Amino acid sequence: MNTLIPDMKIWPVEEMVHEDEFTDRVEILRELDQWIAAIQRMAAPSTALIAPRRIGKTVLLDRLVNTVFLKPEYKAVPFYFKMNREKRTLREFLLEYATTFFRQYLAYCEQDAMLFSNDSMSLNKLASLSTTHTASQMALEYIEQFLERYTSHDEEDALIHWDAFIRVLERLGSHSGIRVAVIIDEFQDMQTSVYNMPKELMDSKDRSEGYGAILLANTFDRQAQSRKAPMLVSGSAVTMVFRIVMGGPLGGRFDLMYMKPLSIPDGAALLHTTLKYYGQGQTISIRSTILPAIIISLWTPRPLQISSESRKRPWQQRLKNSMQPT
Ligand SMILES: Nc1ncnc2c1ncn2[C@@H]1O[C@H](COP(=O)(O)OP(=O)(O)O)[C@@H](O)[C@H]1O
Ligand SMILES: [Mg+2]
Repeated sequence: MNTLIPDMKIWPVEEMVHEDEFTDRVEILRELDQWIAAIQRMAAPSTALIAPRRIGKTVLLDRLVNTVFLKPEYKAVPFYFKMNREKRTLREFLLEYATTFFRQYLAYCEQDAMLFSNDSMSLNKLASLSTTHTASQMALEYIEQFLERYTSHDEEDALIHWDAFIRVLERLGSHSGIRVAVIIDEFQDMQTSVYNMPKELMDSKDRSEGYGAILLANTFDRQAQSRKAPMLVSGSAVTMVFRIVMGGPLGGRFDLMYMKPLSIPDGAALLHTTLKYYGQGQTISIRSTILPAIIISLWTPRPLQISSESRKRPWQQRLKNSMQPT
């Protein structure tokens, strides 16, 4: 609770758009909300959210995480990892990924939104958290084990430790009863930003375009099949995300969810709302925003065509099938 500004809500994820500027997406948010709710009964397959750049994938994921965070009854932590193109060794990345995971896991159990977003919190500091929550206590034990191995090994152990850590997400969920949704944005950057080598070696060569990087996305092949800690991935390089989840080691392990541009009436409503914030006091009727909304809608890239195969098997259908008695 923010004591300086009463009534000001603290969200786990700082959203890019103003709270009431976020428009529509009711249906897809409901579907994704239900996808996370289904994790507890192991009925949520890994899914890739596919749409061209600037359609609103990231703002949607931000909103999803903020919504689900407030639902401890789902017993599924929305572990939200925003990948980026910063160059780092696998050992460095492992610590970053593990710290983010444990911090968000503890934050969900404790319902502490500030903790969720506090990326200055080290793993050592997290390990000293005091709690009476059983799942949090179990997470603390896993942190101890992680730190013990991490501090007593060097780069040579990084890949084996990484593989072992991926399983921790499922194992902790099974032991504690609080499962995990692994939500990764900019998933394609996993293929070009992480180097399984000592830092000096990484820095010694030109690494532009990911030269020599480990194809880290491929190491999720097991996790992608997991119903205990399923994945929801997205990214702005839509062709690359599509290629990663449809081919290579991950091929066929993801259901696809397509996202369309906002409808014309929703685009008009958005223009109307944004003018409130950016139009310096100007007001405009909803009707007069319709024409600009149509122009924007025509100009926005069309969503990808759904292949006949995936049309036959959208994830909702698979979910429904898996719940039907055989
Ligand atoms: N549902 C929405 N409501 C309001 N603004 C949106 C919405 N979706 C997208 N936007 C606007 O479009 C911009 C791009 O969205 P973003 O989520 O970054 O796209 P993507 O991740 O698909 O590339 C956002 O910064 C925001 O201004
Ligand atoms: Mg994005």
